Amino acid sequence: MVSIKWDVTYKCNLMCGHCINGNYLTNKDNEIVYEDMVKVINKINDNIPVGYIHFLGGEPLTHPDILPFFKYLETQGIQFGFNTNGLLLNEKNFEYLASLNCLTNIVVSLEGPTAEVNDAIRGRNIFNVIMKRIRMISAYKRENPDCKIKIVVNTVVTSMNYGTIGDIIDLCVREDVDSLQLLEFIEDGNGVGKNYSLTDEMFMEAITTVAKRFTLGCDGLEIVPKFCRPLVKDYIEKCLHLKFPLVIHGCGAGATTLFLDNKGNVYPCDRSRKYCNRQYSLLDEDFFSVWESEDFKLPFSRYYGDELYRKLFPCNGCKYLGDVCFPCHLSREADVDAVMHNCNLLHNMMKEVDGNEL
Ligand SMILES: C[S@@+](CC[C@H](N)C(=O)[O-])C[C@H]1O[C@@H](n2cnc3c(N)ncnc32)[C@H](O)[C@@H]1O
Ligand code: SF4
Ligand code: SF4
Repeated sequence: MVSIKWDVTYKCNLMCGHCINGNYLTNKDNEIVYEDMVKVINKINDNIPVGYIHFLGGEPLTHPDILPFFKYLETQGIQFGFNTNGLLLNEKNFEYLASLNCLTNIVVSLEGPTAEVNDAIRGRNIFNVIMKRIRMISAYKRENPDCKIKIVVNTVVTSMNYGTIGDIIDLCVREDVDSLQLLEFIEDGNGVGKNYSLTDEMFMEAITTVAKRFTLGCDGLEIVPKFCRPLVKDYIEKCLHLKFPLVIHGCGAGATTLFLDNKGNVYPCDRSRKYCNRQYSLLDEDFFSVWESEDFKLPFSRYYGDELYRKLFPCNGCKYLGDVCFPCHLSREADVDAVMHNCNLLHNMMKEVDGNEL
């Protein structure tokens, strides 16, 4: 069974300040059309069953064939969800979306609890639009308790909004959001050179806020602090005596997950795109010749080849490595430093507490 992440278009009606795909947003000629979307998914599904597809981009709802393609997935019984900036969601297309049994989640992006914070990254007047969309979906779910669509809010934690995480949690609870995903900011695309990355102090404040709120209970809101590695839980419990959700950092690139771009080219994952030797198109190529190519073996061979994290402190002694934490196998030196940095920091703080207790 595979899960697929699909950047189905690089058209977008926004140009967010942090957008990881900012450099691709101009690359929108010859985007995949309905017939080819069907061919690509059938080719994968005929060889390995497709369990779930998540659509991103660009803005998936700008793709002219996306709604008919959702219908096709429905006929195949393939579950799916999508990310959206909310601009093109409206009562009419939401009514249609809500009628699809295989649509399991709608992920709405929100960068702050107020127009001031959100719109500084997403653009003028966007906050009000997003809030209307969240309220529309929540109201529908309240009126239709059988509705299985999960409403998820995605927030990228940056230097611009780390101080507002408590208010974002309040907003999600108030608006009956099912899940809040707090994502790690990756400095790429439009985000390069913007100083959006968290300093150590900002990171510590952000995890402390999440811990306090999580310990108090969040009225049914699931909080998924993806910007944290699992070791944060140990630090919070040991040093702050609070609770923290266990964050799973899985990676099944090229084994249980695949990534498709806006032309239907396939890669083990979005980040591996820049390390692949060439493009692979399932419109022209046999599935297994792609799946078994060196590029698709690369992510896992690096991991099991005893490279990188297995040799590096503190991952080398960490109970989470290879269990619930799979730091990116493809990372080069700069990325490795970023992954290790926060865990080194936490490790040192826990050591201090151990020292004091002795
Ligand atoms: C690239 S967008 C595409 C889907 C849709 N246009 C949207 O904004 O939700 C997918 C998700 O990635 C997040 N994102 C954008 N830039 C990012 C970055 N530099 N680091 C981490 N996540 C980022 C967005 O906030 C959004 O939640
Ligand atoms: S984050 Fe989403 S909405 Fe913003 S520019 Fe990127 S693709 Fe568009
Ligand atoms: S030390 Fe390494 S394996 Fe452990 S949680 Fe941190 S990144 Fe993951």
